[in-house]
Amino acid sequence: MSTTVVAIDGPAGAGKSSVASALANMLGFTHVNTGSLYRAVAWAARKKGVSIDPVEQSFLDSIKFEFKAGKLLVDGDDPGDALRSSQCAADASFVAKQAAVRAFLLPVQRQSAEKRWIVMEGRDIGTVIFPDAAVKIFLTASAFERARRRMIQGEVPAGAAIEDVQKEIEARDLQDSTRAVSPLKAAADAVTVDSSGLTLEETVETIAAIVRKKRAEAGV
Ligand code: DC
Repeated sequence: MSTTVVAIDGPAGAGKSSVASALANMLGFTHVNTGSLYRAVAWAARKKGVSIDPVEQSFLDSIKFEFKAGKLLVDGDDPGDALRSSQCAADASFVAKQAAVRAFLLPVQRQSAEKRWIVMEGRDIGTVIFPDAAVKIFLTASAFERARRRMIQGEVPAGAAIEDVQKEIEARDLQDSTRAVSPLKAAADAVTVDSSGLTLEETVETIAAIVRKKRAEAGV
């Protein structure tokens, strides 16, 4: 183990953001949501009116990220809730498939762990960004459970049937796990945590126990 990173990877809807945020709070670590970086690239491209098909290297070279008081600033601006829009999610998914975008974001993600403990969530943190992360968690939940959560959170159109939401989730899982660049998969040395039957608190406590055990074993 050589980094101060707790890597949490897993499919959309497994609860990564809530779990990573609560876990970081509990342990006094910094929470880094890498999905926001992909969303920020897409957001900045829209704002500047430049192509995302493909994203040009000259545009990537012009982007300046800063982290200030826990906020991600893009070229000095705070995108705020704009990163959460469904348009931005779709654009982010599109740019995340591009090797140039992933190469651009690799050092940005690595720098955020310098000299401090972080909980970093994403899709390829334990496999690509920090293959030597101190702790690797693959957080998942059944497609049915993820569909149920999305419905409870009102993230689907009114009247949508759970079977259809589940099918959509399964299709996205297939796309994410079979894409050529950095496919979503558990690292060989990751601990898989299935949150299907667990509350948020139980999930956080399960992962916190894994972190404590690994740190005690490694003496860090
Ligand atoms: O977790 P999210 O929905 O905010 O992620 C936005 C998009 O970025 C989503 O399509 C998955 C992709 N992503 C990725 O490919 N690798 C990461 N480390 C994080 C997110």
